Order: sequence, then structure tokens, then C-alpha cells
Amino acid sequence: MVGKIYGTGSCVPSRVMDNNDMAKIVETSDEWIRERTGIERRHIIEDETTSYMAGQAALRAVEQSGIDPAEIDMVIVATSSSETIFPCAACEVQKTVGAVHAAAYDLNAACTGFVLAFNSAQAYISAGIYRTILVVGAESMSNMIDWTDRGTCILFGDGAGAVLLRAEEGTPVCMAAHSDGIKGEALTQLSRHRKGWEQEENKESCMHMDGQAVFKFAVRKVPEIIEEVLEKADAKLEDIDYFVLHQANRRIIEAVAKRLKTDLAKFPMNLEEYANTSAATVPILLDEINRKGMLQRGQKLMLAGFGAGLTWAACLFEW
Ligand code: COA
Repeated sequence: MVGKIYGTGSCVPSRVMDNNDMAKIVETSDEWIRERTGIERRHIIEDETTSYMAGQAALRAVEQSGIDPAEIDMVIVATSSSETIFPCAACEVQKTVGAVHAAAYDLNAACTGFVLAFNSAQAYISAGIYRTILVVGAESMSNMIDWTDRGTCILFGDGAGAVLLRAEEGTPVCMAAHSDGIKGEALTQLSRHRKGWEQEENKESCMHMDGQAVFKFAVRKVPEIIEEVLEKADAKLEDIDYFVLHQANRRIIEAVAKRLKTDLAKFPMNLEEYANTSAATVPILLDEINRKGMLQRGQKLMLAGFGAGLTWAACLFEW
């Protein structure tokens, strides 16, 4: 059995901050941000929370699927920025959608979180443990970043995306995942719940990133893991209809396409509108291309995520 996507959904805050708005906060410019990242705007929470956006994205996925929420066996929310440690965001989503029979838990693997959650759901389905699984990626990155650090604050946005998987007969799903804790210092976010955090300046608790190290890691490891998955699946690059990559930076995606010698047109992007929403980028993009009518049953999709940890993961499946 494989998990087929029956429904997708997304939710982003209505408040938009464009690059010119960012230039009022830190020393930067629309031109610099566009050239180095491809980002034009990002959606930033006001009253919304991570689990609220997760719930709304999930409701839309469930609605599109036509599946009774009582049939959902499990809810997994990939997030590292929930407004509550417990109850977990997945239990909030369970409540919102009425998935009364589901088990629910959160998974934290930063920007790789959604692809790992998707892989986990596929493994449960393939093992025959569960039949219907809701997988969500949701983040409020604006609560984590140092709004005085122009090297990071311009890169991120808030939002959530969701997919509803249902077990069916089909071509096996192929996946891979890796981590490198030794290089973890390249991208860190301390917890505000550890001992002594109250004495620190707020800045210490914010995200720290070595941008160039993360950039180099991504352009090397993403093509590698895509090739690893293709080899496992005995498939070729040409077989893939779309590469749905984590939306961190346009130049990273262009470099991956170039390394794989694959047409950039097969790499849909929406980072100009939402920036990097961490675990939410892949499901928001999936929802967008699905609702645009770009996807047909039988097409082959490659998902790939990468980020803090360092972590990276990929999944090849048929739509
Ligand atoms: N506006 C204007 N100038 C900026 C700036 C900004 N927002 N951010 C940094 N700069 C400056 C730097 O201070 C530096 O100035 P200097 O030469 O006087 O020291 C200059 O621009 C170049 O900085 P550098 O860090 O070398 O730029 P870069 O080309 O590596 O681009 C990133 C920076 C962050 C856009 C890029 O490294 C990147 O995208 N990395 C990956 C990050 C990522 O995706 N993280 C999440 C992964 S999940």
C-alpha cells in the first residue's frame, strides 16, 4: 500500500511585508534581497498562531479530500515554532478538524520536517499500520528571528500547508533521509524554555545562521539525495515531472537544477511570495500547484527538504 494524496490545503497570514517594508527595519534593499534570494514578499502573523494556521490548512485538505475526519488515523505536524510545547500542535489540529479517532504528535526537524513527516506517514501506510494520515507543516518563523539581523530576518515568513494521505495500491514510494549533527552550529535556535534563558538578552534566544555554510550544504546535499532516491527507485531524472523543493532561496534551487542538468521549469517556486516558511514551504507549494491544476494522477513528484540539524530528506512518489 502507498499513501495517495487525496487533498491539500494551506493557510498564510493576511499581513504582507514586502522587501521595502524590510528596508525600513534593517539596512537592506529590495534589489539586494531579490538578487541574492529571489524573495519579494513574506506573510507575517498578527493574531494568528502556528496551530491555528496548521488547523486551517488541515481543514482545507480534509475538505478537498471528501474524507470523513473521523476516518483519520493519525495527525503529524512538522513544526519547530508552535506557540505551545504541549498540547502539541497536532492535537490542536485533531481538535480543529474533528479527527476524533486519530493519534497525534509533532515532529521537529526544522525545514526538513515536512518531508520527514511525509516519509514517516508513508512508512506507517506501507507497513499496514494506518490507512489515513494528515501531514501538516506549520511555522511562525517571525517569532524566532532576530529582527535586527539583516542576514536572517529577510529570509523567513509564516504559514502552514497540509496533505491528507489515504492508503491505496500503487507504485512503491521511495525515500531517503540523513543528518549531520557535527555541522549543527551552522543554523541554531535556542529554546526559550531552558534554564537561565530569562537572564539573556532576547537576541541570544534568536536564530543564528552561517548563511554561506548552509548555502553550500544545500547545493551539495540536495542533488546527492535526489540521485540516491532515484537509484533506489531504479528511476531516471527524466521520469520526474516536478521537483518540489524546500523554498529557501531561488539561487539554491537554480544551482540544484543545474547540478542535475534538469530544466528549471520542473522546479516550481513560490518563495517570491512567502519566503522561507521552514517546514511549511513544501506543503504550501504542493497545495498551490495542485489547486492550479498542474498535477495529474500518475505524475512523478520528488520532494526534497533541507535545513537545521543539519538534516535533509527526499521522497519520490506518484501523484
Ligand atoms: N541586505 C544587504 N546586505 C546584506 C544583507 C541584506 N539583507 N545581508 C547580508 N548583507 C551583506 C553582508 O553583510 C555582506 O557585507 P560585507 O561584504 O560588507 O561583509 C554582504 O552582504 C555579503 O554577505 P554574504 O553573507 O556573503 O551574502 P551571500 O551572498 O552569502 O547571501 C544569504 C547571504 C543569507 C542570502 C545566503 O548566504 C543564503 O541564502 N544562504 C542560505 C540560507 C538559507 O537558506 N537558510 C535556511 C536554510 S533552511
